[in-house]
Amino acid sequence: MKITSAEFIKAAVNSRGWPKDGKPQVAFAGRSNVGKSSLINSLVNRRGLVKTSSTPGKTREVNFFLINGEYYFVDLPGFGYARVPGRVQADWGPMIEEYLLQCPDLRAVIFLLDIRHEPGDHDRMLNQWLSGNEIPAVYVATKADKISRGQRHKHLKVLADAVGADPRDIIEYSSETGEGKPKLWDAIKSAVSQ
Ligand code: GTP
Ligand code: MG
Repeated sequence: MKITSAEFIKAAVNSRGWPKDGKPQVAFAGRSNVGKSSLINSLVNRRGLVKTSSTPGKTREVNFFLINGEYYFVDLPGFGYARVPGRVQADWGPMIEEYLLQCPDLRAVIFLLDIRHEPGDHDRMLNQWLSGNEIPAVYVATKADKISRGQRHKHLKVLADAVGADPRDIIEYSSETGEGKPKLWDAIKSAVSQ
């Protein structure tokens, strides 16, 4: 995928801050530290476009990035990290829910799951919101470089069972090696062109 431009547009805490230009939006969701911000940087080949951190809870607002002037990548705050102060964490659920349920330009959610871990309650809840509201989800297993090829299927099966998907429909991805990039771009291109 040729990226001619990728720019940060704004951060929003509620619907008043969302871009309202009608351009399609693709959101990236998943638990804190799963690798959302790194994956966006890797997709657009810009190391520093989105801030990443080994400390969970880096992204705390809904961040909008305009890609090739045509569509938005939306970096959602990660959920489910216990060490974040209670009030901040309490703000997250409603902020994500409002966006997912009410943004008219949302075309698909890229749902990130760490290939190493069994999905948790928040992952299951998000999955239910998405299917209950008929929001198309693209499942991505992040940090694939951390699991050897021989162990991959076993791990994908755990993720697939938790979200009710076929293991073959989960895209194995590594922001370190670029594995999975063409497949994920195909899914994104098809979502924004609908
Ligand atoms: P929050 O903003 O806290 O919700 O986290 P996030 O989901 O945006 O995660 P982020 O991209 O900041 O990555 C978290 C940590 O995981 C960082 O230390 C990254 O370097 C590491 N990481 C992300 N993707 C990969 C990957 O594909 N492979 C490996 N080995 N590490 C990764
Ligand atoms: Mg982040």
